[in-house]
Amino acid sequence: MKNYVSASILGADITHLADECKRLEENNVDMLHFDVMDGCFVNNISFGLPVLCALNKCTDMFMDVHLMINDPLKYIGEFVKAGSDMITFHLESQSDPKATISEIKKAGIKAGISIKPATPVEEVYKYLDIVDMVLIMTVEPGFGGQGFIHETLEKVEKLKKYITEKNIDIDIQVDGGINDKTAKLVRTAGANNLVSGSYLFSADSMADAVKSLK
Ligand code: DX5
Ligand code: ZN
Repeated sequence: MKNYVSASILGADITHLADECKRLEENNVDMLHFDVMDGCFVNNISFGLPVLCALNKCTDMFMDVHLMINDPLKYIGEFVKAGSDMITFHLESQSDPKATISEIKKAGIKAGISIKPATPVEEVYKYLDIVDMVLIMTVEPGFGGQGFIHETLEKVEKLKKYITEKNIDIDIQVDGGINDKTAKLVRTAGANNLVSGSYLFSADSMADAVKSLK
């Protein structure tokens, strides 16, 4: 299974997003992780459609869009139009998961389903045949720069074991508190797609930071 690093631009220098995209491309970062927060599903508001459109004009990077919003289904069409290559939404949101996944897949892009730290991993099992990725949050969604929640490792292990036994071909993404040390733990547990914001963007050498996450 291929390993991916997805850079959360929440950790970037927002005043120079075009330059930050160039830096990601030059350092072989696989995806740009775009965190959308609506101030309802989480206690924070980040950025949305116009910023995603603008980013798509200055980079060809794969857009890994993470919707932390109450009603993702309502906005799938708009986020597809804005240039998403993959949309991940939360199981805990108000939208019907199956309808949301089918709306994303209908647009011809990849679909991910995400769970917060307190949600048991078994709750995503019934969607594994129709998604491309499961995102296991390793912090409470809402803010960059938080400490990794170690208890989430068990969920990564459980999901990895389950998909291996059932021969299900999906990616396992983790998001929150990922650095050179926690990267080793999540990789060993079975994650193959690591989101990193503050660690990646504040590193002295982004190239070395990317290597340490792969
Ligand atoms: C948290 C976001 C994350 C966050 C990661 O709600 O989904 O993507 O920006 O940032 P770090 O790597 O700093 O924890
Ligand atoms: Zn995220």
